[in-house]
Parts: sequence; structure tokens; C-alpha cells
Amino acid sequence: MKPKMVIGNWKMNKSFEEADDLMIAIGEQLAGLRLETGVVLCPPYLYLELATDLAQEAEFTVGAQNCSELKNGAVTGEISAEMLAHLDVEFCIVGHSERRKFFHESNQTIAKKTDILLESQLIPVVCCGEVIEERKAGQHFEVVEKQIKESLFHLSKEDFESVVIAYEPVWAIGTGETATPEQAEEMHAFIRQLIEKKYGTETAYATYILYGGSCNAQNALELFSQPNVDGGLIGGASLKAEEFVGIIEAAETVIKEN
Ligand code: PGA
Repeated sequence: MKPKMVIGNWKMNKSFEEADDLMIAIGEQLAGLRLETGVVLCPPYLYLELATDLAQEAEFTVGAQNCSELKNGAVTGEISAEMLAHLDVEFCIVGHSERRKFFHESNQTIAKKTDILLESQLIPVVCCGEVIEERKAGQHFEVVEKQIKESLFHLSKEDFESVVIAYEPVWAIGTGETATPEQAEEMHAFIRQLIEKKYGTETAYATYILYGGSCNAQNALELFSQPNVDGGLIGGASLKAEEFVGIIEAAETVIKEN
């Protein structure tokens, strides 16, 4: 089993001081653990520089939550991938369901953002996942397949190998209703098969497929024990140091036991 990855998506939360305190607390709790798990914090844009400064001495790296699909220019309020790269940001979440819903991001927009991030050597964390109506109608595999194919399958094998995928069933995000380990495993195995068909076995195995949606320190162990669940994209539970570190410890436990 390859090492796990745990990414904290803070969304639009925390004051500057609270963000500082939380990063320091996470850094302190992770210090000396000699982690195998890759840990990434994705605070709001305004705290990225603070995060990358602290990351120099800590066991985490830093990601953004979004970027513009354009390289630069007259797009008021946007932040480019290149700007993120200059701040030593290494990851960027793309196509989160909240952005699909509130900002009408399509698979095509997500494909463009993925390209622009790769151009700036950032690692795109590309989100996919069905809404509850789609799951109830038995369309979840079809929906996720379309999202993955339209946003990622234009990439060369080499570029694809830099991408992280996060499966986040929308009905599980922020609801306290986690996908069962079986539901997560089933979808992750399906995604891995899609990758295998397109890019081959080695790439499929190496690709990180994270689970997101009400993952916490209590359920992480069981979720991460599934063979195709390579870690988690964590929202609410990443806003408290102990809870987030508990999830990272679960990831470490799974790796040590396998
Ligand atoms: P949640 O969010 O852990 O609060 O459900 C996950 C996400 O939106 O990335």
C-alpha cells in the first residue's frame, strides 16, 4: 500500500489570527511524528503566504482552494496559478462541488484550470462526485465517469500522473452523512479502472484517489483501510487541530498495518 495523503480544505473559515493559531497547533502536533502520510493545508488565499512560511519548518505542505482558468489579464478578483506557484503553493483544489454549484463551473472549466495548474507545476486536486438525486437514480457511476473523462482524459499520461483525484459524494459534504466504506471503495475502484483503461495499470495504481465528505477522526480508519482509498479531502474536521491530526494518525495506522 502506498503512503496516504490527507488534505485539509478550510473553505471560507477562520480569521487571520485563528488561521495562524490553527496552523501552528497542527505543526506542533505533527512535529517529530516522522509521517509517511502527505499532509496538505488549503486555507483561504489570504493566509497562503503565512502557511507557506510556516510549512518550511513543519510536516505539511500548502494548497489553494481554487485558481483562475486564465493565465493573467483583466479578470477582476481572480488569482492565477502562476501567482500561487510564486508563493510556494504546491497543490490546488479544482472543481469542488461548491464551485460547481455556486460558480457554475463545468467539467470544461475544470479541464482548463487543471491545464493551467500543470503548466505552473502545481498539483491539481480534482474533485468529482454525484448529488443525492443522481445516486438515488443509480446514475452515480455514469456521472463520475463523465466528470473524470471531460476534465482529465485530455491529459497526456505524464501530465495525468501529477493529478490527485478526490471523490466527494455531494450528499456527504458537510452533512455528517459519510459514504459507507463499501460505497467509497466501490466508487474508488471504479475510478481506478477508468484510469487503468486510459493510462495503464502502473499509472492507475500510482494515482491518488482521496475520499471527501464528512470524514472525521472516528470514521477515517475504516475509510482509509479500503484498498482503493488513498486518503482524504477533509472539510469541517480540518478546522480543529486535534480532529485533523486524529485523521492523519488514522492514515498512519493503516499504512503501518499494511
Ligand atoms: P466535509 O467537506 O469534510 O466538511 O464534509 C469535505 C469537502 O468539502 O472537501
